[in-house]
Amino acid sequence: MNETVVTLVTGGNRGMGLEISRELAKQGQRVIIGARDASKGQAAVELLADEGLSVETVQLDVTDPASVSQAAATIKQRYGYLSLLINNAGAVFDFGQTASNLQFKALHDDFEINYFGLIDVTQKMLPLLKATAVAKIINVSSMMGSKTAALDPQSVVYQAVAVGYQSAKAAANMYTVQLAKEMQREQLNITVNAIDPGMVATEFGGATPEQARQMGAKPITQGVARTVQLATDWTDMSTGTFTNTDGPVGW
Ligand SMILES: NC(=O)c1ccc[n+]([C@@H]2O[C@H](COP(=O)([O-])OP(=O)(O)OC[C@H]3O[C@@H](n4cnc5c(N)ncnc54)[C@H](OP(=O)(O)O)[C@@H]3O)[C@@H](O)[C@H]2O)c1
Repeated sequence: MNETVVTLVTGGNRGMGLEISRELAKQGQRVIIGARDASKGQAAVELLADEGLSVETVQLDVTDPASVSQAAATIKQRYGYLSLLINNAGAVFDFGQTASNLQFKALHDDFEINYFGLIDVTQKMLPLLKATAVAKIINVSSMMGSKTAALDPQSVVYQAVAVGYQSAKAAANMYTVQLAKEMQREQLNITVNAIDPGMVATEFGGATPEQARQMGAKPITQGVARTVQLATDWTDMSTGTFTNTDGPVGW
């Protein structure tokens, strides 16, 4: 890459988004931390500045169309293009709710952030991604969205029940496939891939990182490994894939 790699990480103020931002900034990318709460985005910028890393932030609530439009306008004005979009923001609202008792409020909330929000951000950032020679979209998905894993008694997620979250991630996986194929049809150098980070010790789902660790979650640095690998290997132009650090994940 000759020009500066400009990277937007949604939900970049904490958890895996913050670690992805840290590692990509270390590798020389111009990282923009998307944060729904601007003060949390600023706190993340200052945290990384204390570590000697220069990143910036933009207010970005993926469930608020006006916020997404404003973020796209800001990036257009600052840089005129985007090299890398990492759709990392995600949340679960229905842990433990069974398919027969799933509450609609939780189901809607799951889809607002993990599916509709991801698509809104992607569509509004696409003109910026098209404004550079080569670009990538990485969707932070989950093994929880894999129907192959959900049906496999040997899988770690076989017993898991979060129907709305799992459905939203599965839907986002299909969006990944369809957008990847569209970019290929249009002969655009924009790859679109989904990754599975594994079970990672963040504040995801309301647990503390320590509680998550006790349940077997891995350290954040390991959880972001596949994303960072894809985000920094500009010779890898594979698209329409779903992978983790072990290789392909069944859809
Ligand atoms: N942790 C795991 O075990 C695991 C496993 C598989 C996949 N994942 C996926 O990995 C991604 C990152 O998760 P994480 O573990 O790092 O979770 P996390 O620590 O809970 O962080 C989630 C991030 O998303 C942000 N966010 C929430 N709602 C948002 C919205 N409406 N607009 C913009 N940002 C929003 C949060 O911001 P606030 O600080 O403002 O809340 C936070 O920055 C998610 O997509 C998740 O589904 C996680």
